[in-house]
Amino acid sequence: MRSGIEFTLERCIIRPWRLDDAESLAKHANNRKIWLGVRDLFPHPYTIQDAHEFLQRAISEQPEMKFCIEIEGTAVGGIGVHPGQDVYRYTATVGYWLGEQFWGRGIMTEVVTAVTDFCFDNFPLRRISAEVFANNPASARVLEKAGFAFEGRLKNNVMKDGQVLDSLLYARTK
Ligand SMILES: CC(C)(COP(=O)(O)OP(=O)(O)OC[C@H]1O[C@@H](n2cnc3c(N)ncnc32)[C@H](O)[C@@H]1OP(=O)(O)O)[C@@H](O)C(=O)NCCC(=O)NCCS
Repeated sequence: MRSGIEFTLERCIIRPWRLDDAESLAKHANNRKIWLGVRDLFPHPYTIQDAHEFLQRAISEQPEMKFCIEIEGTAVGGIGVHPGQDVYRYTATVGYWLGEQFWGRGIMTEVVTAVTDFCFDNFPLRRISAEVFANNPASARVLEKAGFAFEGRLKNNVMKDGQVLDSLLYARTK
């Protein structure tokens, strides 16, 4: 699996994480605007130690399901696919982030599309879903453009930054 995943897309490369990504990972991930869109599990501030710990975990995962987004030779974002278990074993969820300086260029739309296509082609998945905080229209738009359908609004589902928020459930099915 390790060497198998590398896509060159129009705007970026998707590849496995490497231990030497730590510095650029910490640089781009250390951003409160990114943290506001993701789970609290994502550290903030994001230190070089957080980057080392994430990279150790990501590269030892089998199969590897966390991918680096590379632009101009540098790691600038990430996307992770999390397989379900038990009765959810034909499903997965997806999460992603991108360094702020690269927002608004269609990068994440092509990444989410390519990674979900790859997962449907290579794993026996019937459903890939993502949940977006209701105050994150850019991410909802990414999912719509990547072919995900809006399935519903989960009321008061999230506590983020001291605020209770709804979340929006999106899925692509096969
Ligand atoms: C969400 C995120 C991944 C988007 O990445 P990106 O590469 O900028 O996304 P794209 O450029 O492919 O598409 C963004 C779309 O959102 C739209 N958009 C941006 N801000 C918006 C806003 N405030 N309201 C409505 N639409 C908005 C853009 O116009 C674009 O749609 P368009 O192509 O129809 O014009 C990026 O902003 C990010 O990393 N945010 C922080 C982490 C995060 O929220 N992760 C997702 C968790 S679910």
